[in-house]
Amino acid sequence: MIPVSEPDLGPLEREYLLDAFDSGWISSRGEYVERAERQLGSLTGAPYAAVCNNGTTALHLALLAAGVSRGDEVIIPSLTYVATLNAVYYVDAVPVIVDVLDSTWCIDPAAVEAAITSRTTAILAVDLYGQTADYVALRRIADEHGLLLIADAAESLGATLHSAAAGSLADISTFSFFGNKVITSGEGGAVTTNREDFHTRVQQLRNQGNHATQRYFHEVVGFNYRMTNIAAAILTAQLERAGELITQRRRVVDDYERLLGPDPRLQPQQIATGAVPTPWIYSVRITGASGAERDRVIDALASQGIESRPVFPLVQDMPFVPANQRASTPIAEKISREGISLPTYPRLSGDDIATVCVALRGAVPPTSLVG
Ligand SMILES: Cc1ncc(COP(=O)(O)O)c(C=O)c1O
Repeated sequence: MIPVSEPDLGPLEREYLLDAFDSGWISSRGEYVERAERQLGSLTGAPYAAVCNNGTTALHLALLAAGVSRGDEVIIPSLTYVATLNAVYYVDAVPVIVDVLDSTWCIDPAAVEAAITSRTTAILAVDLYGQTADYVALRRIADEHGLLLIADAAESLGATLHSAAAGSLADISTFSFFGNKVITSGEGGAVTTNREDFHTRVQQLRNQGNHATQRYFHEVVGFNYRMTNIAAAILTAQLERAGELITQRRRVVDDYERLLGPDPRLQPQQIATGAVPTPWIYSVRITGASGAERDRVIDALASQGIESRPVFPLVQDMPFVPANQRASTPIAEKISREGISLPTYPRLSGDDIATVCVALRGAVPPTSLVG
């Protein structure tokens, strides 16, 4: 089976992991936590970086640190992984779910602007499948309306927009280091920001609301969202190898683009002007396909030993979302229905990419039959 994703763990990860193990510092104190944070700072250009135990807790910490609270409206895109939505509920805020752009699949700034009310406090954009949202337009809107700009950059480590890196494009940004991400620590996450006050709060909240110097004195209700030194050891190695890992992923995406070529039956995510996406999971739309037709393509690939995934379902379709929050987002719905994510990982061979492309082209119906 060609999996959709596979971590690339090598001798450096092994060396650092064993070093952390042998040192006895296996919980959240230890040199690798600080090393990973320094590496993240230099990779993202963000002045402050704090690691935590996954990308979902990173979102929770970011919302809390930024002061988002009960009753606040937070504007999010409908096409994202459910964690973005869940984090808004964690702080008792109200998600206002808006549509995405047909081109980049990321949150539509015009839809954001139209959704602003007197209760809106934040825009939580998502860098979908490695492409940054339009932070130039979002920044203008946020500034005009006095809103916080938060980036769920779980999928976009290594991406840039007008030469600024993901992690430094919003007031506060979050990352995931789950096993399928560009950089992994097994489970892991991080919050980056240019605001010292946000960073201080993140550090406190991830560690039980601990006072900075006074032991066993907890100033606020906090959480145990700490990353272990063991995970940070893997993360440090991965961050040191980020250039190499991203280059290999880029080779995979370049191959897909070359081999799939211009084909009216397939529409890749378009790249915005000034954006350099990070090659996370190469995803394409099957022009005009119904959900059932797309699923048949996934099944056809599976029968040839190739794992693929549907693009995310809409967050408002989750059963726990109240009826009054179930916005209509027709563009996201179309992308979600048509979209398929293909195997993308650093060690994917050229031969395997060719196999995937032949299988995909063979499985996709002619455009006249879809729609
Ligand atoms: C857009 C997005 N946000 C948040 C998360 C949550 O990250 P984690 O799985 O590390 O909690 C993920 C990934 O899984 C994601 O893709």
